[in-house]
Amino acid sequence: MAEVGVSDIAIYVPPFYLTHEDLAQARGVPPEKYQFGLGNCKMSVLPNWEDGVTMAANAAISLLEKTDTAPHEIGQLIVSTESGVDHSKPVASFVQGLLRIGERCRVYEIKHACYGGTAGLVNSIDWISRNCHSPKKALVIMSDVARYAFGSPGEATQGAGAVALLVEGNPRLFSVNTSLNGIFSKDVFDFWRPTGHRVPIVDGKYSIDCYLEALEGAYTHLCSNLGIRKGKLLEKLDYLVYHMPFGNMAKKAHRHLIDMEYDNVGAAAKERLFAETFSQKVEPGLLGVREVGNIYTGSVYMGLISLLETEGEKTAGKQVGIFSYGSGCGAEFFICQMRTGIGRIIRGLRFKEILDRRKKITFEKYVQTHSKGWEETFYHPGEVEAFKDTFTRFVFTGFKDHKRQYL
Ligand code: CAA
Repeated sequence: MAEVGVSDIAIYVPPFYLTHEDLAQARGVPPEKYQFGLGNCKMSVLPNWEDGVTMAANAAISLLEKTDTAPHEIGQLIVSTESGVDHSKPVASFVQGLLRIGERCRVYEIKHACYGGTAGLVNSIDWISRNCHSPKKALVIMSDVARYAFGSPGEATQGAGAVALLVEGNPRLFSVNTSLNGIFSKDVFDFWRPTGHRVPIVDGKYSIDCYLEALEGAYTHLCSNLGIRKGKLLEKLDYLVYHMPFGNMAKKAHRHLIDMEYDNVGAAAKERLFAETFSQKVEPGLLGVREVGNIYTGSVYMGLISLLETEGEKTAGKQVGIFSYGSGCGAEFFICQMRTGIGRIIRGLRFKEILDRRKKITFEKYVQTHSKGWEETFYHPGEVEAFKDTFTRFVFTGFKDHKRQYL
């Protein structure tokens, strides 16, 4: 089999959002800090009748339907998440049930903070490559709710959503040669959520340092695998998508990349290089993070969807660099070789349309929603009715005999 990669991609974001203007007003912060300092304008808010399972299944069902993929064609189903709902039963098994994926399928969950999605994708590409005589496909889903403590610095970077990728041989959207990927990992405490904690513990500034150190390590490894010297990677890549916990993290990352690529160039020339390449190669991928916030595992792939939505068919045949980072920490820097003739797939993304269909909620409603634990959730069909099947296919209805129930 010549090439393996992704044939199509789908995104699901919850039906509600809070504006950063409203959050800033409630927290007594100038809105410019969130809008320009962090680079975010709206954050997705997950209603109590949704969770990591429903978002994963909602993203996956639209992917299977738009690609005419039958459940029995899926030979590997991975859900990557750091918003697991059970210490033992994987989110992937719930999704298998909801999507009626067959029994001859390897089904499991991966956790490695925001890097987990990339671990699932690389694993699936390698699995397909090893089984090149099998027509089976892999379904990789990233699903997360990014929830921080009320009033904490992380609060303004919250979000929720899921991305689903269909992986197969001779892919229609892009291929990846995983043997070239640049890798970095290190044991650090930058962001973590001990068992039983509802929200993470975050060493915010240190987490940015860890991210940039990981970028440096993965970049160096990628350049070495490609056999290119410093200053040549940016020339090779038409676009770049960085993991984006908030919009301006992409600016910090790109500035660092410019510093590494052009260490013998003066400050003014470097600034010019940064401004030019950022607006051409990075900015088109920022739509999602500005509108949705951080979706952890799916964040960098929402960036890819944003790029495709913004640039459209201009991306055909191009090389897109993806930098994936997960706290803890693990990182991978790899290249997507976009195929030609991808116009129909791009038109099928409908990301802006999905964003526009969401409903704005008040700060009070956001507080009420985020204060409730799942164990306090009671299904209110009246409230859900307006969204079920038109926006949200699967909903969480509470517990029965300690078992999570979905509809
Ligand atoms: N107008 C415009 N800009 C303003 C402003 C105003 N009135 N007031 C402040 N700013 C700017 C600041 O200058 C700063 O910009 P620079 O970073 O460019 O200097 C920016 O707004 C943020 O302000 P602070 O430096 O005061 O930072 P903060 O205390 O609000 O915390 C944060 C920022 C550390 C990112 C925090 O949001 C956080 O902890 N987030 C969660 C952790 C995170 O996202 N880490 C990223 C790397 S780890 C990772 O990537 C994994 C993951 O997904 C979590």
